[in-house]
Amino acid sequence: MSASDLTPDRLVRLGFGFRESKTLLSAVELGVFTALGEGALDLDDLRQRVGIHSRGARDFFDALVSLDLLTRDNKGCYANTPMCAQYLDRTKPDYVGGELEFANARQFGPWGKLTEALRTGAPQSGARGTANYAAYYSDRQVLENVARGMSGGTRPVADRLAECFPWRDHNTLIDIGTAQGCLPVRIASAHAHITGGGFDLPPLRDLFETYVGQHGLSDRLRFFAGDFFADPLPPADVIVMGRVLHNWNLSEKIALLRKAYDALSEGGALIVYERLIDDERRTNTAGFTASLNMLVMTGGGFDFSGADCKAWMKEVGFQRIETTPLTAVQSMIVGRK
Ligand SMILES: C[S@@+](CC[C@H](N)C(=O)[O-])C[C@H]1O[C@@H](n2cnc3c(N)ncnc32)[C@H](O)[C@@H]1O
Repeated sequence: MSASDLTPDRLVRLGFGFRESKTLLSAVELGVFTALGEGALDLDDLRQRVGIHSRGARDFFDALVSLDLLTRDNKGCYANTPMCAQYLDRTKPDYVGGELEFANARQFGPWGKLTEALRTGAPQSGARGTANYAAYYSDRQVLENVARGMSGGTRPVADRLAECFPWRDHNTLIDIGTAQGCLPVRIASAHAHITGGGFDLPPLRDLFETYVGQHGLSDRLRFFAGDFFADPLPPADVIVMGRVLHNWNLSEKIALLRKAYDALSEGGALIVYERLIDDERRTNTAGFTASLNMLVMTGGGFDFSGADCKAWMKEVGFQRIETTPLTAVQSMIVGRK
């Protein structure tokens, strides 16, 4: 490319990317896609349904049209695009908006202070320890939204994991940091011989038990309440840690890997899945920004590459460690005891 071909367009687009992001996050917060779940609405009906002032309403809904999140017909009625109808309507089982609601409510503010976090190395979320779960969970509504949001993010990973791991070679599964239990539910639904459950902080118990009961799996999956730093992990043939390690600092990460190793049966497997940074540390922007999110939100958390995790697992004693992509954004690292 010659100097005369250069334009600043990409820089400007990137720099103002927060405007598009916040337009989507506010639409999720206001329930725009849920309001349209039963059918198209005109400007005034949609505005009233989601409770916004007339001044910004037309630009807001038309911005969503321009982002291909809504359509508008020639009578001026707005409707969901198929993607938003499936994934952003709160009444749908595939709803992924819980994580976006969490990002909007908890992360957007602290990200406004990214520069401060970079200058000081200190979280901007009010976190005191490495991560802040106990504080979030004191608010029941936040707890329910976070747990539901995590299921939205876990489901595609769990479905892929149900297909591509040799479950027939193992009988028991414990998911560490299980939230509502989406992962063990999807695996146990696909493999009738699997038993076990999920381990998480005590406030998650009734959400887990309700969710597992709704899927008819209460006889095979149970909740193990505990603090994974203070308590031993339940024994199992397969232990899963999904999107757990990134919350913690290096010594905490290694302590968790060691606990998993101790809890596994001989020949058992640990499956770690995360949004991994590429080993060359050059291309995976989503991995780097996830790690910056840990900087802003936690006292010591950071994301990592498959090579980083392999080295830590090797240090703890795992063997035959392999990295495999699961979805477009998440990969797993499997190590054997
Ligand atoms: C980022 S979420 C990941 C949830 C799920 N595995 C997923 O992939 O969607 C981290 C989970 O770890 C749990 N957790 C955090 N601190 C914990 C602790 N000290 N002991 C047990 N679980 C903990 C949280 O409650 C939460 O469910």
